[in-house]
Amino acid sequence: MDYYDNEDNENLEIMLLLEAMNAKYGYDFRNYAKASIKRRIRHRMSIAGIKKITEVIERVIYDREFFIELLGDFSISTTEMFRDPSFFQALRKSIFPALQHLPFIKIWVAGCSTGEEVYSIAIMLKEENLSDKTMIYATDYSDKSLSAAKEGVFSIKSVKQYASNYNDAGGIQSFSNYFTAKGDVAVIDKSLRHNVVFSIHNLASDGVFGEMNIILCRNVLIYFNRELQNKVFDLFTKSLEEGGFLCLGSKETIRLSPFSGNYDEVLNDEKIYKRNTRPVSYSQKIDNNPVVTPEFVTKGGELIRAMKSKIEELDCLISGVQGKGGV
Ligand SMILES: C[S@@+](CC[C@H](N)C(=O)[O-])C[C@H]1O[C@@H](n2cnc3c(N)ncnc32)[C@H](O)[C@@H]1O
Repeated sequence: MDYYDNEDNENLEIMLLLEAMNAKYGYDFRNYAKASIKRRIRHRMSIAGIKKITEVIERVIYDREFFIELLGDFSISTTEMFRDPSFFQALRKSIFPALQHLPFIKIWVAGCSTGEEVYSIAIMLKEENLSDKTMIYATDYSDKSLSAAKEGVFSIKSVKQYASNYNDAGGIQSFSNYFTAKGDVAVIDKSLRHNVVFSIHNLASDGVFGEMNIILCRNVLIYFNRELQNKVFDLFTKSLEEGGFLCLGSKETIRLSPFSGNYDEVLNDEKIYKRNTRPVSYSQKIDNNPVVTPEFVTKGGELIRAMKSKIEELDCLISGVQGKGGV
């Protein structure tokens, strides 16, 4: 580290801030993409008239309200109903028919924000007569977003915009049938909520959601670094049934992760993958155990890299033995 380099010092301050948020409040942003985190911190500093990140650390530690505001800044909740209509069309035409034969369907919407994506799926399930045998688990770490999602209240202006997405996604009803207008807002039809469970779940620190047939996690992983993305792919791979579907956002892919081999391509353009029957290898599991930031923990990073390469050698040896009819 260069003692006079401002960027180095700023990175160090940010690392200390994220450590403080994790240690004091249990929210782990240590493996979020640095550029986005920096922007969010600067945004809060300009609102609060704060000049130094060290001051932000002090405020976070001693002022819970300030922490909650910063937490809100970190949750980028941008969303819309039937976002990327071609994705929803693919879900209706290619994925739902593959699940028709199941007695019960479980769908996990991870990072569901204020609920628009969840209600889009609920509408499609209803139109395909799948609602009664489906459970949707809608999760986010932000309780503010989840409260809004449960309310299901949207501005009339945004509902008008969502209507054109719905039509482009192959909607078969009049979109307004799913809402009741109340002044300048529209309230989502209660029947769309009967099979939805909203709950807090933090992808950076919480555990597996079992036996899912579909996991949607769209436009969330773009905010994570590669290490956290891999940890989340590990979580999803353990949470998905074999033959289950993983749906990512248009700028996200599983292909750069060690879990790539566990998924077959269904529709690459729509970022829909199918969990195959290949077992997760030993090195993949080790890869995702510790949450470390190699940029900052150089020595630990070297040690972990050395361990990983030894484990990969072991994996090769084991698969060689298996190929020869061994274990
Ligand atoms: C840009 S929104 C995407 C919403 C929706 N999936 C979509 O594509 O329209 C990202 C959401 O991910 C949530 N999120 C970010 N980090 C998370 C984490 N560690 N665990 C759970 N949710 C997280 C944010 O709170 C936010 O609601």
